[in-house]
Amino acid sequence: MRFEKPTGTQDFLPGTVEKWQFVEDKARDLCRRFNYREIRTPMFEQTELFERGVGETTDIVEKEMYTFIDKGERSMTLRPEGTAGVVRAYVQNKLYGEPDITKLYYMGPMFRYERPQAGRYRQFHQFGVEVFGTADPSIDAEVITLGYLFTKELGLSGVKVEINSVGTPAVRAAYRDRLLAFLMPMKDSLCSDCQSRMERNPLRVLDCKKDQDKFGGAPSILDSLDEECSTHFEKVKAYLDAMEVEYEVNPRLVRGLDYYTHTAFEFKAQGIGAIDTVGGGGRFNGLVGEIGGPDQPGIGFGIGMERIMLILEHQNIELNAVKPLDVYLVGLGEAADREITKILFKLRSEGFSAERDYLGRKMKAQMKSADRLQARYTAILGDDELARGEIALKSMETGEQRTVRLDDLAKELGL
Ligand code: HAM
Repeated sequence: MRFEKPTGTQDFLPGTVEKWQFVEDKARDLCRRFNYREIRTPMFEQTELFERGVGETTDIVEKEMYTFIDKGERSMTLRPEGTAGVVRAYVQNKLYGEPDITKLYYMGPMFRYERPQAGRYRQFHQFGVEVFGTADPSIDAEVITLGYLFTKELGLSGVKVEINSVGTPAVRAAYRDRLLAFLMPMKDSLCSDCQSRMERNPLRVLDCKKDQDKFGGAPSILDSLDEECSTHFEKVKAYLDAMEVEYEVNPRLVRGLDYYTHTAFEFKAQGIGAIDTVGGGGRFNGLVGEIGGPDQPGIGFGIGMERIMLILEHQNIELNAVKPLDVYLVGLGEAADREITKILFKLRSEGFSAERDYLGRKMKAQMKSADRLQARYTAILGDDELARGEIALKSMETGEQRTVRLDDLAKELGL
């Protein structure tokens, strides 16, 4: 019997994991600078939370959820995205009772039963942020800038910010009518997906890749915005301009989740194939209330970590992710070997990364190991050195070798 990982999942092995850690550290550091605090919520929640939160007619809820009945006969779902759980936690823990606005971030696996391809998995990972407690457009701009800076600081080039306003539910209802009036005459010529979307979620029809050429004259949602929505959108753009963040207004941008109001945005990368969206998000002013909390506005984004890794690879960006070993200890002879174990423990306790041989190999093979581990130094202890309280220290970079006092080893290695 051979076991294999489930379709659409990945094993992250040493060598790759360090790159992930580097990218995660970057996200954490950015959130520290922007004053966002981490939140960790469960990997599964009540199914209904996502049905209500993400929306009954979305692809996620209709087709992609990992839902199961637990032993208590409750319907549970592995989280397909992060926002609904964070909103639930915000409400349940009454974070809205705090005097300041709430700025949160999270990182972790999400689950969607999708057709896997490059950059699309069934278990994938998001770095996301959510802000609660203000409808001020300056925070829309801040959230967008945070995501933008994340891609910039990782060295990704060609990531574009696209923004749109999807208005309020009332604005969308009016726009839906205008859009349907435009689509109706061509209904029979549209693909079956478009036809069913026309009935369930007409705004998403414009998303269709197949029928794109037919939508040239489609009405723009931006022409349907009311005064409040346009003012908000103008202010968001003005803040972005002030920060010199480049963006493009894309009036066709509709996100695949139902909770958005006002600002919607995506980070798009060029030249990584069919899947070009690195991340997306927007405002969700009705969601907290929808989930049983007070009427508090929110905004956030989710960035796909696999997509980030994919672009890093495409653009040949080398992350300085692997941390070399400080020292590899070689013991020659039985007494020296015992002493090596002691030194190893001491160095590790003092904060050095140190390694030794566990296979009884000859000196040459041990030196090869030291090379593979990119050790800065090897320290070689024979019985003679041991008797004198010394150890031979070799710099792997310069090849220079000298004898140092055992007591001075840590000092010689430096930290
Ligand atoms: P989303 O657009 O569904 O939004 O997902 C955000 C990002 O997660 C996508 O742009 C993509 O990079 C990544 N992603 C989604 N599905 C997959 C997949 N199957 N495989 C790999 N990567 C994937 C949300 O999830 C919202 N919760 C974002 C948000 C936060 N809006 C407000 N706050």
